[in-house]
Amino acid sequence: MSHTLHPMRKARLQRSELAVPASNPAMIDKAADGPADYVFLDLEDAIAPSEKVQARKNAIQALNDIDWRAKGKTVSVRINGLDTHYMYRDVVDVMEQAGDKVDTLLVPKVAVTGDLYMVEAMVNQIEQAKGFTTRVGLEALIETALGMANVEAIAQFGGRLEALHFGVADFAASMRARTTNIGGLNPHYPGDQWHASISRMVVACRAYGLRAIDGPFGDFSDPEGYKDGARRAAALGCEGKWAIHPSQIALANEVFSPPEAEVTRARRIIEELRKAEAQGKGAAQLDGRMIDAASERMAMNVLVLADAIAAK
Ligand code: GLV
Ligand code: MG
Repeated sequence: MSHTLHPMRKARLQRSELAVPASNPAMIDKAADGPADYVFLDLEDAIAPSEKVQARKNAIQALNDIDWRAKGKTVSVRINGLDTHYMYRDVVDVMEQAGDKVDTLLVPKVAVTGDLYMVEAMVNQIEQAKGFTTRVGLEALIETALGMANVEAIAQFGGRLEALHFGVADFAASMRARTTNIGGLNPHYPGDQWHASISRMVVACRAYGLRAIDGPFGDFSDPEGYKDGARRAAALGCEGKWAIHPSQIALANEVFSPPEAEVTRARRIIEELRKAEAQGKGAAQLDGRMIDAASERMAMNVLVLADAIAAK
């Protein structure tokens, strides 16, 4: 290992991340009792301008009325972008009125570190003024060409930042990619046209101790397409994916949970390496394959995740 190491800033189980328009209180109630690991109450793109103020009030009420933590969920609010006049009041009202109940603020369309600096400074002041002993985290959506161009700098922001999300729909728009699908594959592209961008974001996340989350898949009548996309994201190191429809929650939970056979193999890797260690050896064999200290690190990732799921 290098002498420079950025540990995970904050671990959270985030296999499935349900997007809930805060304009719809019935959907919020349903989300609270559903199987998602993580719910975000949306004040941004799912909300029409005429509903923005009411949606903000609904989100605050839901944070105060529902005990999300007792329900085993992380709860977040997606505030509006810094280019809108809704954003400052989203932060002020949500934080002043429910800042000790919300786990994170999800900041959309982050393009430069200054975007996070502004939110962080506001949150710091409000928590101090209110005397909260809790500490809200920040998560950033990487979904513009400028955000992706600056992703390494954004990942190094520090402060309260704990995760980056790949917002494929806005990213496609910002890139002027030839699609109107949210997250689907383009049949004219030989492979996954989002591969390079997700991979780039995941590298930035893992280098600086952040969680990496894959964004939406719009066609909720195509569960296999969703799962394929989720599996590709998981293969690259993402630990969860958005669900824009309740039917996608179980799909995400399935794909981002290690199957029993993988957990068993991870345990056997550790066992075999312990035996080898007792004999003064660094490497061993398991089912005809070489395993060593790097195998142990991979296996521990699986076991830590399995433990977090079991503890839920
Ligand atoms: C999410 O916000 C997206 O744009 O995909
Ligand atoms: Mg977006």
